[in-house]
Amino acid sequence: MTEYTVEFVGTGEEITVADTDTILSRCLEEGIAQEYSCRVGMCLACSARIVEGEVTQPAARGLTDEEREEYALTCMARPASDLKLDRGEYPPSIEAEPAVGDADGSVAADD
Ligand code: FES
Repeated sequence: MTEYTVEFVGTGEEITVADTDTILSRCLEEGIAQEYSCRVGMCLACSARIVEGEVTQPAARGLTDEEREEYALTCMARPASDLKLDRGEYPPSIEAEPAVGDADGSVAADD
């Protein structure tokens, strides 16, 4: 196990994250207000732009291949180096139309 430093730019927040932990799990343990929702790599709520460093995130299914190079889904991402992350920026696909259901993304319930 290797531990890395993860700095959140513009916040003064810095934590240590092992390469066996997700960044989000360590944020929650340290009381850092990282947004999240699904925790399974789909909703993009937990994303952060990678300013510096590398992550491993094979289960980050909500990101396109290009976005994986520039953004981390903190619920899935584990550090592969020391990191600087920007929690204030989201990948373009967060604005994409829902693939299923109504235009607002809702799915009608069966009566
Ligand atoms: S919390 Fe939904 S993608 Fe991470």
